Amino acid sequence: MSLIVNELEESMIKEAPIGVFDSGVGGLTVAREIMSQMPNERIVYFGDTARVPYGSKSQNTIIRYARQIIRFLKTKQVKAIVIACNTASAYALDTVEAELDIPIIGVVKPGAKVAAETTRNGKIGVIGTEGTINSGMYSEFLYLRNSELTVVGKACPLFVPLVEENWIKDSVTVEVAKRYLSELKESEIDTLILGCTHYPLIRSTVRQVIGDGVTLVNPAYETALELKELLEKKKLINTKPQKNDGSGYEFYVSDAADKFKQFANSILPYDIATTKLINIEDF
Ligand code: DGL
Repeated sequence: MSLIVNELEESMIKEAPIGVFDSGVGGLTVAREIMSQMPNERIVYFGDTARVPYGSKSQNTIIRYARQIIRFLKTKQVKAIVIACNTASAYALDTVEAELDIPIIGVVKPGAKVAAETTRNGKIGVIGTEGTINSGMYSEFLYLRNSELTVVGKACPLFVPLVEENWIKDSVTVEVAKRYLSELKESEIDTLILGCTHYPLIRSTVRQVIGDGVTLVNPAYETALELKELLEKKKLINTKPQKNDGSGYEFYVSDAADKFKQFANSILPYDIATTKLINIEDF
């Protein structure tokens, strides 16, 4: 009898969703990688659209936000959490990981790993929010892999509002990118980490400005791979196939639900039926 109960409990845990969060739409670039690499997994996504951007806020504030979001995600019985935000990964992952009883991963370490493996001349650029660049976290992980690397970081704070505004291909975004990326172009990097989950959405603009000789690294792909390995290790992979209609995905935001939904529908493989508004300060 207890064996049957245990088996039932185990399969319920495996079928539980993965919590994914970001300050806004950026984390959708990670969510869509998880959808494509692990189609059986359910996802509960939270975008903190009332408090975006995170990149200019202090570490204490980001830790407070991350704790609130994790408390919310736990009400959805998530089996694991992905911090699909570089700023929150850099500032809060270590703190919240120590407090949590389920697995949690961020995006910085996987991004650094793939960049260190990609570079040929040892010169790596990192673009991200002020918080991510000032935290020095990418450099730390890159130097751990190879102390001979040269790492050039550049904060690009205007990119996040431009993406949230959906000015993805706008000439203004191209102009801003030219200003931000000019010093990186001069530093002869051969690899550039898109160190903010919003940036893959303006990948073509970054590519146009930085040129074809630089390999762009999107940590989202590697993060989904790392998540898969972690779930396998913890025996948490969901083996039950999902309906192929996106019904296994739930979306929550702290503001502007319709705007979020429209954006999400333009980049995800499924149309989102609803995006629910919650008051994150309640958690
Ligand atoms: N997309 C997030 C990141 O990867 C947050 C950007 C922001 O809110 O400033 O850093």
